[in-house]
Amino acid sequence: MKTLLTKSPRRAANLILKGEIVAFPTETVYGLGANVFDEKALRKIFIAKRRPIDNPFIAHVAHLQQISLLAEEVTPSARLFIEHFFPGPLTVVLRKRPDVPLIATAGLSTIAVRMPKHPVARALLIACGVPLAAPSANLSGKPSSTTWRSVFNDLNGRIGGILKGGRTAVGLESTVVDCTGRTPRVLRSGAVTLEQLQKIVPSTRLAILRKNASPKSPGLKYRHYSPHARVLIVSDPDAPLNVVNAGYIGIDPPSAKSRRFRVTRICKNAKAYAHDVYNFFRSCDAAGVSIVYCQSVKSEGIGLALMDRIKRASR
Ligand code: TXA
Ligand code: MG
Repeated sequence: MKTLLTKSPRRAANLILKGEIVAFPTETVYGLGANVFDEKALRKIFIAKRRPIDNPFIAHVAHLQQISLLAEEVTPSARLFIEHFFPGPLTVVLRKRPDVPLIATAGLSTIAVRMPKHPVARALLIACGVPLAAPSANLSGKPSSTTWRSVFNDLNGRIGGILKGGRTAVGLESTVVDCTGRTPRVLRSGAVTLEQLQKIVPSTRLAILRKNASPKSPGLKYRHYSPHARVLIVSDPDAPLNVVNAGYIGIDPPSAKSRRFRVTRICKNAKAYAHDVYNFFRSCDAAGVSIVYCQSVKSEGIGLALMDRIKRASR
């Protein structure tokens, strides 16, 4: 299949409305979009990404009215979060309307909804006129794509098109919060922090994801976000590290004894680290590195999401 590269939201929308799947930038990571009501197109996403069939998609909307096409009701906590954080890097899980195809939600009776802020994503959603189901635009298991080139490397020839935009601002996926129950539960941490959510709804908690219980967010059970290299977490960058064919990313530079890494990225804070980490993983793969050292950061603010992704990559 020929993958169209374009900067035109209109052209990308035309492909989607013909039943194709198209990657597009959002403020978090690139998404791979299809009309949420087009089952055939949704099936194409699973095939293109080699995604497990039990992992549901996030439905992206252009404006608040579209939420009623997807969700049975907007609960009080969801309403508050939507008011404060839409458009932006937050996804709310709500009870799904029966007419949304089950394949979009992998058979769940709930649906994840998000309104991206990125102007190109918004232009695309407006041009389509329908909500778009969109997982991250990467091969399953690999780091999410933060540039159109990463999308191209993973999916060229497998998807209808790529709507080109710049590098994504956040660099990690959205925060996913289950709003179906009385107390909101964070299923996946992200750029909207637990602290920010608790300011709006103080009872908000992190979900405890038990290994064998039927997972509330099926995506979380898979190996994720990983480069080919082994990922090792470093708490003390002063400790001597094996620099042979290795990469290093962190906020503090590694000790003088271990400065000769193949690839190094020193980030000015946790936010910059989150912005760069997937791209760094991909640079390490391109360089053929076999170990990637990641400095640990405090699990607070964006650091919670960053450590979550690094830990998953290290499994
Ligand atoms: O930032 C993002 O969220 C990006 C951009 C493209 O919007 N999308 C993204 O999609 O990261 P994906 O498919 O890679 O991750 C979606 C996550 C998965 O962990 C999935 O299990 C969870 O959201 N999810 C989707 N629908 C759900 C539902 N009904 N209940 C619970 N979790 C759900
Ligand atoms: Mg993903």
